[in-house]
Amino acid sequence: MQYCEICSDDIETIAVLSERHLTHGEKIIKDINSRKDLKDYFGVKAVEDGEIVGFYTCIEGRIEFTLPHPEMYRIIREMIGDEKIITGDTLYVNPAYRGRGIASELARHITVMSRERGGKYFLTEAWIHPDGIIPAKKIVPFNGDVIYEKTIPRFYSDLYKYGMECPICGKNCVCGAQIELHRL
Ligand SMILES: CC(C)(COP(=O)(O)OP(=O)(O)OC[C@H]1O[C@@H](n2cnc3c(N)ncnc32)[C@H](O)[C@@H]1OP(=O)(O)O)[C@@H](O)C(=O)NCCC(=O)NCCS
Repeated sequence: MQYCEICSDDIETIAVLSERHLTHGEKIIKDINSRKDLKDYFGVKAVEDGEIVGFYTCIEGRIEFTLPHPEMYRIIREMIGDEKIITGDTLYVNPAYRGRGIASELARHITVMSRERGGKYFLTEAWIHPDGIIPAKKIVPFNGDVIYEKTIPRFYSDLYKYGMECPICGKNCVCGAQIELHRL
């Protein structure tokens, strides 16, 4: 398995896979494709036999959630002041390759890159499924020491208002999110 930084040519694949597995909706495809210039956007991919089997992407210098949450934005901004933050955007591993530590390795790489880019904090939004499972629970700790944590039930309930849908619940999403601020 090779781990390397994503380039503009990877963005379309990342957009398609993110829309299919993380959040449905044309908006996701459009948003990710608009980052082709890689301005304030970076990521790591896991590649096997020339195929992308996993990726972890980030937004540089901004607090961003899948959909607007101004109350969370304010809390995080108050905590970090003007210091540089990196926000975890998409994390995905092809089902055929799961359980082999690929996501953990991607997260380790992302943390190193975030520090190299002068990031002082790393923000994660971990998806909580309706049955309470948090797929990224054991992966986000690789993004640094947790200095703030909040679990928000039904974090995605307004997805439909922004033209998005949950891959599990559809329009009426009952999934939550575990928001964590990490010191890099
Ligand atoms: C979450 C995901 C990226 C994990 O990828 P992975 O390469 O299998 O993860 P790892 O092998 O590095 O697993 C690290 C740990 O997390 C646990 N884990 C991985 N996927 C999990 C899941 N779906 N549910 C619960 N725990 C999970 C593993 O058991 C492992 O624990 P261990 O160290 O005690 O053995 C992958 O399941 C995925 O792409 N899921 C769909 C998209 C998604 O949910 N992304 C995260 C959105 S916040």
